[in-house]
Amino acid sequence: MMLAGFVFLLLLTDGESSNSNCTYRQLFTRLYPKGKGQNTMTRPVTIHTTPTEVMLDVLIYAILDLNEKDQKFVSYVWIDMHWKDEYISWNEEDFCGIDKILIPTKQLWMPDLTIEEMTEKDKASASPYLTVFNDSEVWLRNDMLVISTCKMNVYKFPFDIQSCNLSFKSAMYSDEEMQFFQIGNSSRSTNWTLTMIRSQSEWLLINMDITNTIVDNFGLNQSMLVYTIHMKRRYVLYIVNFMLPILFFLGLDLASFLISDSGGEKLGFKVTVLLAVTVMQLILNEILPSSSDRIPLIGKEAQSHCTAYEQEQHMLNQCVVICPH
Ligand SMILES: *[C@@H]1O[C@H](CO)[C@@H](O)[C@H](O)[C@H]1NC(C)=O
Ligand SMILES: *[C@@H]1O[C@H](CO)[C@@H](O)[C@H](O)[C@H]1NC(C)=O
Ligand SMILES: *[C@@H]1O[C@H](CO)[C@@H](O)[C@H](O)[C@H]1NC(C)=O
Ligand SMILES: *[C@@H]1O[C@H](CO)[C@@H](O)[C@H](O)[C@H]1NC(C)=O
Ligand SMILES: *[C@@H]1O[C@H](CO)[C@@H](O)[C@H](O)[C@H]1NC(C)=O
Ligand SMILES: *[C@@H]1O[C@H](CO)[C@@H](O)[C@H](O)[C@H]1NC(C)=O
Repeated sequence: MMLAGFVFLLLLTDGESSNSNCTYRQLFTRLYPKGKGQNTMTRPVTIHTTPTEVMLDVLIYAILDLNEKDQKFVSYVWIDMHWKDEYISWNEEDFCGIDKILIPTKQLWMPDLTIEEMTEKDKASASPYLTVFNDSEVWLRNDMLVISTCKMNVYKFPFDIQSCNLSFKSAMYSDEEMQFFQIGNSSRSTNWTLTMIRSQSEWLLINMDITNTIVDNFGLNQSMLVYTIHMKRRYVLYIVNFMLPILFFLGLDLASFLISDSGGEKLGFKVTVLLAVTVMQLILNEILPSSSDRIPLIGKEAQSHCTAYEQEQHMLNQCVVICPH
């Protein structure tokens, strides 16, 4: 009697699992029958001449640093990407209305997206899952710490505007095999970024431009999506820290004419002011990029100030003070 009941129970559970398609596991087994390991290997198109169209959406979540000395731009970006995997599809009705499933990223082919300007490997952990819809659409959302090169022009420092490019492209596929397209237009991306951005350090994001081009990389034509990020420096800090003190020194310098030449007072005063300007310039040197083609205006100003002093000292022929440069 007990044995019969046990057998009945066994039949019941077994029967239930085989004719109900209401679980993700059933769907996964349907998509990945045993031994179907090739899904990750090749570009998922049924006709090999069809290019894979990758839709891309990029959002700047944080501007972490813009290092003028190393010409380095550090940002944290969110990347949304979707494309079609022609080998995957199912009918929603056969699976109790399941229209999407999350599967591990390792189980499926993915575009080999790279950022051309990136100089260091991304340390943030990649998303472990991607979403597959019943109409073959595959979505991937990822976030990345992007350390990229960016050529900066600091001539107008601290009133400068910098533009940095992030160029998204495939590492290996040509434009006949993979093409990138943006989701929405530039103003939409800018709007999203402005509402999502959390930290901008000393910068203020103005807008983003998106250009879709085809570039020739060593004889390989590749589709590329370029995000140009325009940023403005928040200059108030620099005015308070540098401009005002420099003006102050200038005032002191002029005031020194009022001191009478007799006695060593005038010389002592001038040397003190000169030292102060020198220290100031050392600090400036630390901040301004050394690789810049043109010396920033503010640096030039401090320098000319310094040279003027030097000449004056020589004329007085009393002591020699060495100015930097
Ligand atoms: C379960 O899915 C298969 C297709 O994978 C379908 O043939 C079958 O009818 C479905 N079963 C139910 C109960 O919907
Ligand atoms: C996805 O499910 C919808 C709703 O059942 C259905 O109309 C559509 O044909 C399905 N797509 C595929 C590729 O089976
Ligand atoms: C950034 O990309 C734009 C558009 O492709 C290009 O015109 C510009 O020269 C690029 N800037 C740099 C610094 O590469
Ligand atoms: C960008 O797209 C929005 C709709 O998403 C539209 O209203 C707007 O006019 C577009 N802007 C440009 C410059 O095309
Ligand atoms: C973004 O767009 C919405 C409308 O879609 C608008 O209300 C909002 O002001 C825009 N934000 C910015 C920062 O442009
Ligand atoms: C790259 O594109 C250019 C212009 O569209 C074309 O002349 C050239 O043949 C292409 N090169 C390859 C390798 O497809």
